[in-house]
Amino acid sequence: MLLGSRDPDRGMAAVHSLRALHPGAEHRVAYLKIDVSSDESVRAAREAVAASLPGDGAALYGVVNNAGIGLGSHDMAQVVNVNTLGVKRVCDAFLPLLGNGGRLVNVSSASAPRFVSGCSAARQAFFQDAGIEWPALQALIDEVVALGDDTAGFEKLGLEPHNPYGFSKACVTLYTLLLAREHPHLVINACTPGYIETDLTRPAAKSRGVSPADMGMKPPEHGTVAIMHLLFGAPHGSGHYYGSDARRSPLDRYRAPGSPEYTGD
Ligand SMILES: NC(=O)c1ccc[n+]([C@@H]2O[C@H](COP(=O)([O-])OP(=O)(O)OC[C@H]3O[C@@H](n4cnc5c(N)ncnc54)[C@H](OP(=O)(O)O)[C@@H]3O)[C@@H](O)[C@H]2O)c1
Repeated sequence: MLLGSRDPDRGMAAVHSLRALHPGAEHRVAYLKIDVSSDESVRAAREAVAASLPGDGAALYGVVNNAGIGLGSHDMAQVVNVNTLGVKRVCDAFLPLLGNGGRLVNVSSASAPRFVSGCSAARQAFFQDAGIEWPALQALIDEVVALGDDTAGFEKLGLEPHNPYGFSKACVTLYTLLLAREHPHLVINACTPGYIETDLTRPAAKSRGVSPADMGMKPPEHGTVAIMHLLFGAPHGSGHYYGSDARRSPLDRYRAPGSPEYTGD
């Protein structure tokens, strides 16, 4: 397993902690330097991985796009560059290295269906269109990034204003549909990890003066359930979005974990 991180010290610390948890299997995890916000870094990471494959038709088993920023942030360009365009950079670079039946898991968020539920009817349809083409999605991203603080501009586009995180995750969930259509030999899905106590979410509890558990956050190991299912389990094919309970969820509204699975298209 290759553990990608932009910061070698933090990445190696994570590798060492995994190795310590699995004595005897230390050789099974290694560090990969990658900054998903940089074309150059993703290209270098891809070259390093491609060069490390034995060359006898060996392929990668799967890729998990987990990097994410921006809960509570208002810098649309930065958030989209990591959460949406970062996923595209990694997919463009690494999907060709996956073999038949290879897995791709895009870690999106329940903020995506929540965001979509607040959009106009036409925009809701856009965010659920399995026939979406990348230029249409890129054009929307470009328009939105150019809007800055223009609230009326968001409304004209049928979008909830000032929610870069929700927008970026709605885009990545939609991009997952496109990827699944374009790569029928792969198993490609998106999910939310759930509301999990991490560096991303802890500040929200701190600012309210309560504990992460008081806010409903679960411990980090709960955040792997859907990801592990989509990576190693038997999901319902490709091009779907899963809740943190590893069951399908709709793209246009929140489904609470433990409630009935979504069975639509
Ligand atoms: N926690 C939740 O409740 C929750 C809910 C829904 C979705 N998610 C999603 O779950 C994923 C993991 O988030 P988390 O909660 O575990 O937050 P986290 O602890 O902040 O982890 C996010 C990771 O992304 C990395 N990252 C950020 N920018 C990057 C870049 N340009 N290149 C490479 N790596 C980068 C960070 O690396 P550094 O260590 O270098 O900062 C960090 O390790 C994210 O996609 C997030 O949106 C989380």
